[in-house]
Amino acid sequence: MAEENVSGVSEAEIAVHWQEEDYIYPPASFIRQANLTDEGIFERFSLDNFPECFKEYAELLDWDKYWETTLDTSNPPFWKWFVGGRLNACYNCLDRHLAADKNKSAIHFVPEPEDESTTHVTYQELFVRVNEFAALLRDFAGLKRGDRVTLHMPMVAELPITMLACARLGVIHSQVFSGFSGKSVADRVVDSESRVLITTDAYYRTGKLIDHKEKADIAVDEAAELGQTIDKVLVWQRYPGRHSSPTPMVEGRDFSVNELLPDYRGARVAPVSLPAEDPLFLMYTSGTTGKPKGCQHSIGGYLSYVAGTTRYIQDLHPEDVYWCMADIGWITGHSYIVYGPLVLGASSVVYEGLPTWPDAGRPWRIAEELDVNIFHTSPTAIRALRRSGPEEPLQYNHDFKHMTTVGEPIEPEVWRWYHRVVGKGKAVIVDTWWQTETGGFLCSTVPALGAMKPGSAGPALPGIHPVIYDEEANEIPAGSGRAGNICIRNPWPGAFQTIWRDPDRFVANYYARYCKDEKSTDWRDWPYMAGDGALQAEDGYYRILGRIDDVINVAGHRLGTKEIESAALTVGEIAEAAVVPVSDEVKGKVPDLYVSLQPGFEASDALQKTVSSAVVSEIGPIARPRKVLIVPDMPKTRSGKIMRRVLAALSNNEDVGDITTLANPEVVEAIRQME
Ligand code: PRX
Repeated sequence: MAEENVSGVSEAEIAVHWQEEDYIYPPASFIRQANLTDEGIFERFSLDNFPECFKEYAELLDWDKYWETTLDTSNPPFWKWFVGGRLNACYNCLDRHLAADKNKSAIHFVPEPEDESTTHVTYQELFVRVNEFAALLRDFAGLKRGDRVTLHMPMVAELPITMLACARLGVIHSQVFSGFSGKSVADRVVDSESRVLITTDAYYRTGKLIDHKEKADIAVDEAAELGQTIDKVLVWQRYPGRHSSPTPMVEGRDFSVNELLPDYRGARVAPVSLPAEDPLFLMYTSGTTGKPKGCQHSIGGYLSYVAGTTRYIQDLHPEDVYWCMADIGWITGHSYIVYGPLVLGASSVVYEGLPTWPDAGRPWRIAEELDVNIFHTSPTAIRALRRSGPEEPLQYNHDFKHMTTVGEPIEPEVWRWYHRVVGKGKAVIVDTWWQTETGGFLCSTVPALGAMKPGSAGPALPGIHPVIYDEEANEIPAGSGRAGNICIRNPWPGAFQTIWRDPDRFVANYYARYCKDEKSTDWRDWPYMAGDGALQAEDGYYRILGRIDDVINVAGHRLGTKEIESAALTVGEIAEAAVVPVSDEVKGKVPDLYVSLQPGFEASDALQKTVSSAVVSEIGPIARPRKVLIVPDMPKTRSGKIMRRVLAALSNNEDVGDITTLANPEVVEAIRQME
């Protein structure tokens, strides 16, 4: 394992050497209004009351039919929650709020250009638009329960509209982050066997109207080459009534949603009553091996868990205005921009652009204008805002009661800035640790109950029971401060059900390592392995140290080193490629890409650029290497394995350690000279 670990011990070591910080207590003003102030929650959600405790979350939803079995463990580790129950996710996010709240804003869509006004979509309008689009999906695109559809949409109101329309029909949506390339979309189209691709003509990013439609054309062509035909591309218009992309529509394949919609005016589609265990969506994420994994989330379990955690950890009340500044293309956006806030009937902000555009004051102007009182973002965004405008938030009258950080470990210094300057010293902060696979939060303080500790995610959530194992599967004693692999002892409703079309990989990656008995149907024998290193301090707070596998967390987004390496290998001159994470002041980690050439080729700046462009076109700009280093040879073990650990040390200006056992130690010095 240690050798596989490209991030080396360094990341863990850095984090381990952070001091345990002093507690900061939630203010009385927050506690007075909080949803959860009852300490008894931890007892109610103890293992003695498992799994029935999670009824409390499921009962936040409206069910068409109440479930018979809370947790079915007959086929481990494919746990089934709320078996026998039936419901519809879209109904829970929309219809049920109409009687009391139809004129409340469900979504505030904020365009990136500051001179374009914000669109306030009420629950009633959202209901109408979702119904009309659901009718189009059903009658024009022929989609029905269980079909998969790939979405490649930017941050516009039409994205939640599309997701909810799918959910209304029982169609499984698979939204791909808009920054990903056409090629990445194609891979996901193929894996999910989608026949329909839903996209947008254009969107704004850093002041430019970006041609997004061109990626759909690439996606369709590449998917066809890989054997999956897209019959229809549905294109939303950024400006209804006009096609805003230089890429033309393809006759008979591409259809403008805004031109078709008038045919469905006034249409109503009854929400399909679905088994709790039906999939709601797929979310692809990077793993240890090359191919992204389609994490399959259920309707009943996922929605229950997201409803419970949004209510108790995000402290969301229906009257709150909630802004999660993530992208809906990631799990954070699914759970805590779309499903969580809407299922509880609150108002959720969807912002199209970059937080620092046109300047570092933009988020605070938006917050002020919309009266946002709950704010949610990542350490990368916090670092970027701090760097470009350290005093900027103090100029504005925004008023947050609650703030979230998610996606990467946050340095205590950065945490304190977030607290003092953005939260004006009075907002509570939750540092939420979780993953695409887990559907919702796993560790965080309950904001009115637990003290905050900068740099620590906090204790486990009610109903989540972590355990830290060492490499030999021994339990590391609770509260010992020793690092190991963090696992969760028990199933919980938000956990993904499987990897789409790859159940073996699901078991192998997440459950096999610490399984106590493969024949057992007792959930106690099947801890879930998160793939993160962590330690638990004496007070029970967890500190997350980073990935233990070949995943680089760039700006809080997971990229597989193998994905980047195979993108580099699409360039004919390249013989070998190795990616390592480099610490970055803003993004946490960025990739450095080392390549060696086939015989007969020379290193050149042009070739470096070609390799970098190949990575961007295969994956997307998020994976762009900081540097492409063309090396004479890779440092290798005698058995021929590339020593990424040594390369990582070179990139991070760290000690390379003992290299005498390498097959070619001299190459290390040669590479050092190049840097
Ligand atoms: O390494 C952990 C890190 O992000 C990984 C999950 O990434 P992803 O599936 O893209 O989901 C991101 C948003 C939930 C984890 O395995 N991570 C996530 N949250 C934290 C974190 N590391 C430290 N502190 C966190 N709060």
